[in-house]
Amino acid sequence: MGDSQAGREVQISALPRGRLTVDQFALVTGARRALRPGEVLCRTILISLDPVNRGLMRGGSDYRGGLRAGDVMPGFAIAEVVDGGETALEPGTLVFGELGWREFAAVRADDLLPIAPRGPLSHQMSVLGLTGLTAYFGLLEVGRPEAGDTVLVSAAAGATGNVVGQLAQRHGCRVVGVTGSDAKAEVLRRTGFDAVINRRREDLRSELRRHCPDGIDVYFDSVGGKLLDACLARMAVGGRVVCCGALSEYDTDEAAVGARGVPGLVVSKRLRLEGFVVLDYRDHWPEAREQIASWIEAGELTVLEEIIDGLEQAPAAYVDLLAGGNLGKRMIRVAPDP
Ligand SMILES: NC(=O)c1ccc[n+]([C@@H]2O[C@H](COP(=O)([O-])OP(=O)(O)OC[C@H]3O[C@@H](n4cnc5c(N)ncnc54)[C@H](OP(=O)(O)O)[C@@H]3O)[C@@H](O)[C@H]2O)c1
Repeated sequence: MGDSQAGREVQISALPRGRLTVDQFALVTGARRALRPGEVLCRTILISLDPVNRGLMRGGSDYRGGLRAGDVMPGFAIAEVVDGGETALEPGTLVFGELGWREFAAVRADDLLPIAPRGPLSHQMSVLGLTGLTAYFGLLEVGRPEAGDTVLVSAAAGATGNVVGQLAQRHGCRVVGVTGSDAKAEVLRRTGFDAVINRRREDLRSELRRHCPDGIDVYFDSVGGKLLDACLARMAVGGRVVCCGALSEYDTDEAAVGARGVPGLVVSKRLRLEGFVVLDYRDHWPEAREQIASWIEAGELTVLEEIIDGLEQAPAAYVDLLAGGNLGKRMIRVAPDP
């Protein structure tokens, strides 16, 4: 992640105990320093709020280290190059990269991806950004749905989940979503989900029996824990579990609840459980973006996104997202579109 370059930034003031609160963040002014060779100065436009970073407050993962008090909160961003230094990036170039929650960042040009907007710039963060691409590759490459399959989508009203559900519909699947409120369930039904389960109000096992009478062929799992446990018991023979994330483990100190049925049900039902990371598909992002953009332009894909104004709003917006307050991709606007 880049260094600060004056401007405001949001730091982690203390690592949370229990659920994250806004008190664990501090809005401060970053220190100014000269650009190093290979670096450019970026002005942040939109910041992505990513739940996995709450998990990194509990410790590192295989693909990146854990977070500490005093760190700038990480996050992908869309930004404009304001000083290209000695690199080939011209001022005014729009880029995507991990800049963190800050107004200005000095970043290595090699770590930035130039972007060419197609439609609103925010789409580059939502459907055409990492979460849309996660939905695309996770469902199509890992889940490999076939027409007539029953696809169950966790965190279905979120940034990744709503796109998974819509893509599964396109593939002629029966799509069942799991979400945390009746209002979000209603929006999902309007975007074409065949059925929606409210995870806070309804009994998961009986609802899965009711809505997936012939079993689940593809389970898109962003949650782990009790939901994975309930879904494994309901998988159809030959089913695929797309292991995308572990939301139930991020905003808590409690030890993870393991799923029963591993390996018993995996063996008897001949299941495939496969994890993936969207960054591994980087070489194929352009084709996926082209495909998704053409569906949006044809009016065949609904874009669900929320833009909250002001860097200072990021902590509250993030705490609320972890509690299920978001509908679609939530992002923070730090500066107007150029
Ligand atoms: N593998 C990859 O390359 C990759 C890339 C990007 C993201 N991801 C993963 O994709 C998942 C979704 O990320 P996103 O950015 O699209 O977030 P998101 O779905 O927009 O937001 C998180 C949603 O998760 C739900 N949630 C929160 N705590 C939960 C819990 N304990 N149990 C069940 N649901 C819970 C809430 O919705 P409800 O209250 O409505 O359920 C909340 O709105 C995450 O697991 C993330 O780590 C993976």
